[in-house]
Amino acid sequence: MRLRDKTALITGASSGMGRATATTFAREGAAVVVADINDDDGTTVVKEIQAGGGRARYLHLDVTDEGSWTTAIDEVLAELGRLDVLVNNAGISGTFDPDLTSTAFFDQLMLVNAKGVFLGIKHGAAAMARTGGGSIVNLSSISASIGQLGVHLGYGASKAAVKSMTRTASVHYADDGIRVNAVAPGMLPPMRTSRSSADPVWRARQLDGVPMKRAGEVREVADVVLFLASDEASYVTGVEILVDGGLTAV
Ligand SMILES: NC(=O)c1ccc[n+]([C@@H]2O[C@H](COP(=O)([O-])OP(=O)(O)OC[C@H]3O[C@@H](n4cnc5c(N)ncnc54)[C@H](O)[C@@H]3O)[C@@H](O)[C@H]2O)c1
Repeated sequence: MRLRDKTALITGASSGMGRATATTFAREGAAVVVADINDDDGTTVVKEIQAGGGRARYLHLDVTDEGSWTTAIDEVLAELGRLDVLVNNAGISGTFDPDLTSTAFFDQLMLVNAKGVFLGIKHGAAAMARTGGGSIVNLSSISASIGQLGVHLGYGASKAAVKSMTRTASVHYADDGIRVNAVAPGMLPPMRTSRSSADPVWRARQLDGVPMKRAGEVREVADVVLFLASDEASYVTGVEILVDGGLTAV
């Protein structure tokens, strides 16, 4: 088991890649905290993990709210004694609002996708430092590095902020024994908040540019997150691993 005796908190774990990561981590021996604002689906994820013999509990955590973070980390430390792995996965899609230059939506993207990760790094690293270190994995996106039609201007900007914070935090927290890395998915199943990027025509056009000619599966992202979370990646910090079927290699 690759995460034996480790505790892990995963944000946005009620759905998609966060859910797959929670299940993968539990299978690999971690005590998993499934954190989200979608309490019903998060509770279902926990029940599924427990039914399979894994260890998990649900925690309501709004990543945009600093008070929610301090409460969550306090609860994790009180109950599990330590935090070894944090996956900053919660996010909203850049295709939710059809107005691709909406100012209000720009603020919302930055709040959830960028500030949510900032708060996670801040409070997660403080907890990890108390017990000798850990691993933080942030979900960025290929949108941080390439332009895409039909995606709000703020989405790639919010993910570029994640990419940048990953590097800076890796330098900042190296002395505390904390590694900080990012995983950048390409074309995966649509997010819950996806609109135009869930449209079959948009997806077919995107797929044309993917050398592997298929979308990724959530487990293929979860497996890379697992590697970065585990001790197998003990000398890996400050990197972003693309999981995009070659889309950005073209
Ligand atoms: N699906 C893709 O094509 C794709 C591609 C590249 C990057 N990503 C990124 O990967 C991550 C996971 O995406 P996904 O496809 O699994 O999305 P998803 O929509 O299936 O899941 C996102 C989860 O985040 C939760 N969430 C949203 N706002 C939150 C908040 N304020 N506090 C706590 N939880 C909140 C949602 O309730 C949901 O459970 C996101 O950061 C996303 O931007 C997705």
